[in-house]
Amino acid sequence: MTIAPLRIAAIPGDGIGAEVVAAGRRVIDALAAASDGRLAVEWTELPWGCEYYEATGSMMQEGGVAALRDFDAIYFGAVGWPTVPDHVSLWGLRIAICQGLDQWANVRPVRFLPGVKSPLRKADEVELDWIVVRENSEGEYSGFGGRNFGGRLPGGEIAVQSSVFTEVGCERIIRYAFEVARTRVRKKLTSVTKSNAQQYGMVLWDDVFKRVAHDYPDVEIDTCLVDAMAARFVLHPEQLSVVVASNLHADILSDLGSALAGSLGLAGSANLNPERRTPSMFEAVHGSAPDIAGLGIANPIGAIESAALMLRHLGFPAEADRIERAIDRTTAAGVLPRDLGGEANTAEVTATILRYLN
Ligand code: NAI
Ligand code: MG
Repeated sequence: MTIAPLRIAAIPGDGIGAEVVAAGRRVIDALAAASDGRLAVEWTELPWGCEYYEATGSMMQEGGVAALRDFDAIYFGAVGWPTVPDHVSLWGLRIAICQGLDQWANVRPVRFLPGVKSPLRKADEVELDWIVVRENSEGEYSGFGGRNFGGRLPGGEIAVQSSVFTEVGCERIIRYAFEVARTRVRKKLTSVTKSNAQQYGMVLWDDVFKRVAHDYPDVEIDTCLVDAMAARFVLHPEQLSVVVASNLHADILSDLGSALAGSLGLAGSANLNPERRTPSMFEAVHGSAPDIAGLGIANPIGAIESAALMLRHLGFPAEADRIERAIDRTTAAGVLPRDLGGEANTAEVTATILRYLN
């Protein structure tokens, strides 16, 4: 049986984004080729990023976000290059897409892979895995504020960067996180804020959490301030199952989380519009890593894990499982890239994952 191909926009972006997106595409194409027509993908590669900015003055084509609505999903690399200020590149591409397509849930699972040494001693004693659910549309990254008074005396400029917390925004992400917690063996949700110091937005978040929790009596609940949570990630990671937090807090905690599993290079993520009104976007958690770009040594596992998350979202759970099994078998066999203490380059890790797909 042949079905209509999935239409996926690939945006490799900058630096190692291109290297890891190419690796992920090879894995998906291999699954499609072996699927007897059950899975087919029509890729459209979009050349957006810092080079595009230098040529055109804009990070993406005019109407780029609207053009993305025609796709089933977006497979993203990373954005950022030293020639363009980071806030220009990030807001001009990644955040423009996440906000423009209302991809309000950023799901970042952390898997501890066999054969990968964690800096945590705890990881040798207990099985660890958790999911960080990040509010992805508002909070500290709402983009409200401004700079002014630069014409005053030297040193007189001021900047205001406002956080925006809406009851709708808090409720939808908290409810989503409860639903994720329900699918887990350990049905537990930890809400992270800093409501002792931030008495408006984060107290609203806490109130919504308490209210929504009544609808999920089967899920164990827990709250923690973000500073204490940073310590708990390191000292008591066995207490974590699903963690829900604001845009900024979850951004930081998820990098910490993936580093604890061995490296930033192995974490995948999904930027979801759970109502499926718009396409969702899948990307490794890491950035464009200019320090190693072009050397062919980037760890492709985060991007390949993101490909698995994309296929699961698009209705191909068996294929997603096959990717994750192949990743596990690759690391278990000791084929590790340098950030995980091995010597394999991007091509070798990818080739091994391809070999273990079947
Ligand atoms: P980064 O994640 O690019 O790199 C941090 C460190 O981790 C570097 O030493 C890098 O070599 C290493 N690393 C990251 N991914 C790796 C991989 N797959 N394999 C091996 N090593 C890896 O973060 P950094 O250096 O703070 O930012 C670099 C650029 O990326 C900046 O322009 C930043 O704005 C951008 N960025 C973009 C993101 C996105 O597109 N989603 C997310 C984070 C940063
Ligand atoms: Mg980040």
